[in-house]
Amino acid sequence: MNRLAMIEEIKGWIYEAGNHIKASFAKDNLKVDTKSGRTDLVTDMDKATQDFLIGKIMTFDPDAKVLGEENGLDHLKDGTGRVFIIDPIDGTMNFVLEQENFCIMLAVYEEGQGVLGFVYNVMKDEFLYGGPETGVFCNDQKVMPPENKALSEGLVGMNHVMFQKNAWHTQEIGQIAMGVRMTGCAGYELIDLALGRRVAYISRLAPWDYAPGGVLIKALGLEMSTIEGKALGLEKRDAFLAGTKKAYEECLRLANS
Ligand code: IPD
Ligand code: CA
Ligand code: CA
Repeated sequence: MNRLAMIEEIKGWIYEAGNHIKASFAKDNLKVDTKSGRTDLVTDMDKATQDFLIGKIMTFDPDAKVLGEENGLDHLKDGTGRVFIIDPIDGTMNFVLEQENFCIMLAVYEEGQGVLGFVYNVMKDEFLYGGPETGVFCNDQKVMPPENKALSEGLVGMNHVMFQKNAWHTQEIGQIAMGVRMTGCAGYELIDLALGRRVAYISRLAPWDYAPGGVLIKALGLEMSTIEGKALGLEKRDAFLAGTKKAYEECLRLANS
């Protein structure tokens, strides 16, 4: 199956998962649990959405490996071959408290390289997908690389805890930018970066938070690494920086000054 056909197949799964999530709002029996602490939430819809996507993946490619945030699949023993990386609901806090500003996200890696990314903002119905071979699309429209704006020319997305603590000089970075936005959803931020609505994004992210949007922003010529400028692997959570070439360089310098 070629990449474009694969994109259409995977888009179908994600739209279907989005419809299940929207339908769940009509019921009032959402089960919410905490994981590492009071603000680290998981719901039965996170788990069910991941299981639904894994069912589709296993029918499509029984040999594929899966790295997923929920249900004990958060470590990959072996990254060879084809790996699907899933964040079934990115922005679970928003999903629970706002019923908006959350995304379904999926990346496809082959032999350690990101080949496809999918980030679907369900309630906004904004779907970015594609990769280095096909280019990037937003709701079927081709996305062009955003303008290489400096930090002072745009908005920067931030993780609120890092900003509150001024970790990595994030408050100074915010003062140089036109403003700071904290949506609590990595997918939302990476869509905005891809579409030129942000010039940079700084957070602390796990592989399932950055891999799907990361494939897309890299295909658009944007920069991404750990906040220390090191390559991101699929092994662990890391302080994360992405941006236009200009804003990325400025943030990297300021964060490590
Ligand atoms: C979280 C969101 C948030 C980021 C956290 C993530 P989740 O994902 O993307 O913006 O700051 O680090 O864990 O847990 O809602 O999938
Ligand atoms: Ca996430
Ligand atoms: Ca999640």
